[in-house]
Amino acid sequence: MSEPTELLEPPTPAAGGADRAFAAGDRDPFAPSDDFPRRHLGSNAEELAAMLAAVGCASLDELADETVPRAIRQQGALELPPVDGMPPGRPPGEREAVARLAAMANENRLFRSYLGLGYHGTVTPPVVLRNVLENPGWYTQYTPYQAEISQGRLEALLNFQTMIGDLTALPVANASLLDEATAAAEAMSLCLALAKGEAADGAFFVADHCHPQTIAVVETRAAAIGVPVVVGDAASADLAGCFGVLFQYPTTDGRVLDLEPWIERAHQAGALAVVAADPLALTLLRPPGEMGADVAIGSAQRFGVPMGYGGPHAAYMATREEYQRKIPGRLIGVSRDAQGGRALRMALQTREQHIRREKATSNICTAQVLLAIMAGMYAVYHGPRGLERIARRVHALAATLAEGLRRLGFELADEPFFDTLRVGLAGTGSGAGADEAIAAAHGRRINLRRLDEATVGVALDETVGSAEIVELLDLFAGLAPQPNAERALAALAAAAEVGLPAPHARTSGYLAHPVFNSYHTEHEMLRYLRRLESRDLSLAHSMIPLGSCTMKLNATSEMVALSSPGWMDLHPFAPVKQAAGYRELFDSLEAWLNEITGFAATSLMPNAGSQGELTGLMVIRAYHRDRGDDHRDVCLIPVSAHGTNPASAVMAGLKVVTIACADNGDVDLADLAAKAGQHAGRLAALMVTYPSTHGVFEHGIRDICEVVHAHGGLVYLDGANLNAQVGLCRPGDYGADVCHLNLHKTFCIPHGGGGPGMGPISVAPHLVPYLPTHPLVATGGEKGIGPVAAAPWGSASILTISWAYIAMMGGAGLTEASKLAILNANYMARRLSEHYRVLYSGKGGRVAHEFILDLRPFKASAGVEAEDVAKRLMDFGFHAPTMSWPVAGTLMIEPTESESKAELDRLIDALAAIRAEIRDIEEGRMDRADNPLKNAPHTAERVSADDWPHPYTRQQAAYPAPWVKGRKFWPAVGRVDNPYGDRNLVCSCPPLEEYAGGALG
Ligand SMILES: Cc1ncc(COP(=O)(O)O)c(C=O)c1O
Repeated sequence: MSEPTELLEPPTPAAGGADRAFAAGDRDPFAPSDDFPRRHLGSNAEELAAMLAAVGCASLDELADETVPRAIRQQGALELPPVDGMPPGRPPGEREAVARLAAMANENRLFRSYLGLGYHGTVTPPVVLRNVLENPGWYTQYTPYQAEISQGRLEALLNFQTMIGDLTALPVANASLLDEATAAAEAMSLCLALAKGEAADGAFFVADHCHPQTIAVVETRAAAIGVPVVVGDAASADLAGCFGVLFQYPTTDGRVLDLEPWIERAHQAGALAVVAADPLALTLLRPPGEMGADVAIGSAQRFGVPMGYGGPHAAYMATREEYQRKIPGRLIGVSRDAQGGRALRMALQTREQHIRREKATSNICTAQVLLAIMAGMYAVYHGPRGLERIARRVHALAATLAEGLRRLGFELADEPFFDTLRVGLAGTGSGAGADEAIAAAHGRRINLRRLDEATVGVALDETVGSAEIVELLDLFAGLAPQPNAERALAALAAAAEVGLPAPHARTSGYLAHPVFNSYHTEHEMLRYLRRLESRDLSLAHSMIPLGSCTMKLNATSEMVALSSPGWMDLHPFAPVKQAAGYRELFDSLEAWLNEITGFAATSLMPNAGSQGELTGLMVIRAYHRDRGDDHRDVCLIPVSAHGTNPASAVMAGLKVVTIACADNGDVDLADLAAKAGQHAGRLAALMVTYPSTHGVFEHGIRDICEVVHAHGGLVYLDGANLNAQVGLCRPGDYGADVCHLNLHKTFCIPHGGGGPGMGPISVAPHLVPYLPTHPLVATGGEKGIGPVAAAPWGSASILTISWAYIAMMGGAGLTEASKLAILNANYMARRLSEHYRVLYSGKGGRVAHEFILDLRPFKASAGVEAEDVAKRLMDFGFHAPTMSWPVAGTLMIEPTESESKAELDRLIDALAAIRAEIRDIEEGRMDRADNPLKNAPHTAERVSADDWPHPYTRQQAAYPAPWVKGRKFWPAVGRVDNPYGDRNLVCSCPPLEEYAGGALG
């Protein structure tokens, strides 16, 4: 057995040190003392010099010159338009950037919005705000692929699933989708995938009482795959030949309908029934599952997640058990660990990870985990009685308002309502139509919804109190034929018809599980949140070196704007005049991203990388169609592509043709030329990732783009790896036509445990006319495709994070970051090459910003697999790198620029120690089956057990390097049994008795 290697001695600084372009404060006495780049970039000049020496380069520039092909190097420096009030070329310091964002937030005018449309005011419980949304222990987590160090968020997501399952009365719910409108489109795809025989060629029917943005997103998505959509009156429409039907519950204008007979009619026609339901209303209303619905979707925004001018929020989907293996997105399931204890994991994980490539029915990857956790915690904190109280209160306020409005002489809809009123102005004799009412409301800083020229909508929410009802009644009295009618609240409340009559009232219980009935005081809630957080490894503990995921610093100064009402409390469909601060944010971010990518325009609508891919491909199709090239429907995709690429292509209605990779990992140019030629007449696009998913700046990228263009196709560049390119090369310059940007990678939006993210697309001039539009807010190109997200600027509020990052780094800082990301990867690759084979590199042996370690030989030599190494890293306190992608049996490491050399050295040290343990097995000093790798991770319970039957010490198990002692992170459970969890799929909270002694609770 070998000793783990010690950390390297501190490096000797190179003579003179390196010139750090970002150390502005050293030279300019007027620069702020809190300049940000030195906080973001992990190494100081001495460390930099040591790493450069280790890779054999004199400077960062020399390394960049050797790594990035000369033919594509950016000419000149990044010219980012300056931040307002800053001298050109001098980025704001942290305080200045925060102040600038606060000033922009003040430009947003916070009217009280009664617009509804799926977005509502809500009260985020402060204990959840501070301890989840504002807490890096939660928001810097990664997607819970490594279950043993993710039990906290897995439990939180299981709570979310249980909550949705209970409220909808459909047993299988996923762990979030991106927004309600895209969830509706996902439901359409689910129905299509389940459709049999002729039905599969039928139409999707959408009731015209659905939210307009939902209808428009469904139409956009259906058009891409050639599915006809019929929008109409569900009461009278002929549903024959439809494979699915979508209803809204309550309707967009607030009416509560008994959907049971309608669902019955859909079933008789052979269609599946989808219900878009408001979860707060479901605490009082008969749930979709009890009315016969097959699928329920919706938004959990009003469960404590601020509106944020459109997002991010968690959407949900729930369905019947028989469809559980078809549900898109992630599903958290219950399994067991190596010791037989209960352990949670992402169920059917392999399927999710590969998204079934060209057989995909969904491309959802990053979803809305952090927001699903918040919504679930809102239900945990309030419990079923608390939620019902909130719902009854808002309903009673709506009933009181309705009573007052009737007395004032307004006409209300005949149907029962929950919290949203349809107010008819016609016939009231005052002559006021919807426009006059809305104008009068604006005078009182109130937004009403225009339903038609003589009807307005008023949607109440949890934040409304008696003062708001009085204000609304005063407003309407000014327009009323009987302005002097009784308006005293007590009298109106006493006379109001409160309650929902049969068959609408809910009779079944929900949220009976102890988790929703135990943490209703702040102390209990605080401790529950902390208990879960402590089970999860995040960037607050150590680096998370996930290749392709760019887990870089999510700085506090980038996050603070998210706590500001000026950014968070704006309704996405408030008149744009009220959102001047957001307009400025979008304008500067778009201008910066255009400059960074070398493209002409950017759409901020797609709310994840996958959605950016789909949008970009739909834009490409629209371009071809507009030129009469309707038949161009082939998409070339290298075999090494991320699973979302082929999935997005299929969802854009394209046929995937796979391109081989050469032995060195590069796109096989001969195969590309052959396939492009073979499909020349039908070639729509190539999707390519750059630098490649193998972590290499391929020298042939220009040739690749030229081959595709020569055959009439366009190039879609997957921008997931932009972190190696900013300031060094630009997709728009080397031949791409469109790329998406994962703002949750390169531009610092935290991963949140698997979302939120943002995936805007930047496009060349010829694609600008086709950028996505929105039915409620003017945006996009003049020949634009329809909307691809519910809100016009996607998850608008988190754009403040990327804005702050780019603003504070400035062009020079961003360029330095790319160079340092490349140096860190090359440094680690060089040092680790002493212990492992590094797969793939470019000319001169340089890797890009990430690299792959080959673990495949150890299977034969020691019986060790990539998974064993990944789990053993947990004993050192590390999250594993990306496992078995893009090459099975490997680990892909991406250190990013914001890790210090000391942290890189710790990971190198851990991996070297693990290599030594593998050698012990290879050389017979350690048992092949009973060794620290196979038994990893080691829990505290196991290491402290009276019984220790293993041929290595407890010390080696738990403290495999000297520095682990000072920072031990204990995995909450032993190795999780994946096949068991999939065979016995349980996706909601298990009963209380199963908690005893288990990992939960
Ligand atoms: C190369 C690549 N492309 C696309 C995606 C999909 O992006 P998102 O998860 O934001 O949908 C990822 C995500 O990890 C990726 O690594």
